[in-house]
Amino acid sequence: MESLFIGQNLIELNSVDSTNSYALELMKNSLPVEGSLIYAHTQTGGRGQRGKQWQSEPNSNLTFSIVLYPNLTVAEQVYLTKVVSLGITDYLDSIKEFESRHPQGVSQTKSLKARIKWPNDIYVGDKKIAGILIENNLKGEQVVSSVAGIGFNVNQMKFDGLDSAVSLRMLTGFDFGLSECLSGLCGRIEARYLQLKTNKKDLLDLDFLKKAYNLPVAGGQE
Ligand code: BTN
Repeated sequence: MESLFIGQNLIELNSVDSTNSYALELMKNSLPVEGSLIYAHTQTGGRGQRGKQWQSEPNSNLTFSIVLYPNLTVAEQVYLTKVVSLGITDYLDSIKEFESRHPQGVSQTKSLKARIKWPNDIYVGDKKIAGILIENNLKGEQVVSSVAGIGFNVNQMKFDGLDSAVSLRMLTGFDFGLSECLSGLCGRIEARYLQLKTNKKDLLDLDFLKKAYNLPVAGGQE
């Protein structure tokens, strides 16, 4: 793992309804260590935003949830969205380096130009590559704990009925190792989470704006 605490406690499940639901249930009865990661090879009832389903071909993509204790107020909970979405775009931005250093001498470097579509969809071009579902456990004005669920399309080549979906493989032509992807994502998300923990909210705000897909701001269209 390219991370110090996210994913160090890895709960790997062959099949589960939803990793978010599993994590929320786990937290009712115990206090999983921060960064605990629930990973499913298959989700039978993956949940998306606004009550939608999240469909993902078994063993082709990443579907996982991270347990966090961000110590935010309800008003600040948007920062968790920024942390996770920037972590994912940071990872996507690193892919071109990976390609240019490929041992088989792939000469072409591809810029994936990842963008965040508010509130928390990750797009490359006009196609969605990842979705985020953050579920917070609130106590009064405080976020006591959070589950950050991520669906990241890696090697799936066809998305029936989902014209706007895309995967890393469709974009690059390469087959990606799921565990390397997971490790890379965890490392990038952790780095952003540490920015939040060290109160670099201004930096997160700025970078989020730079990456915004549908906000007409300077730097957003670079
Ligand atoms: C969306 O784009 O609507 C959000 C999709 C979030 C999907 C992930 S997959 C892992 C985790 N478990 C779930 O049931 N949902 C999230």
